[in-house]
Amino acid sequence: MYEATFVNLVDPVIETPKAESDPTICACMKVKASTIQIAMEVGNAATLEEINDLTQAGTGCRACSCRIERVLAGFPAQCGPCSLCPACGVVSKLCQCA
Ligand code: FES
Repeated sequence: MYEATFVNLVDPVIETPKAESDPTICACMKVKASTIQIAMEVGNAATLEEINDLTQAGTGCRACSCRIERVLAGFPAQCGPCSLCPACGVVSKLCQCA
């Protein structure tokens, strides 16, 4: 059952269990983790800006920048809401809790 919380309002990506294998990283541009992986492997993207350019992920509200940075660093994208990261506690810092 879905329960609205402050976290849901801050972090627009709400995943269902079956979507966990390829989570949506950017809700604004509807970009999945697999697309970012392809941009890294085929497009040699290594920075947030390169992912922005190749996939359009992170070019809307930018709330997903933390998740993109996590994927770039090899961490799970969904290890916690970016805005309430237990390691860093703020948006746009790379979560180290993986
Ligand atoms: S969720 Fe990615 S730009 Fe808004």
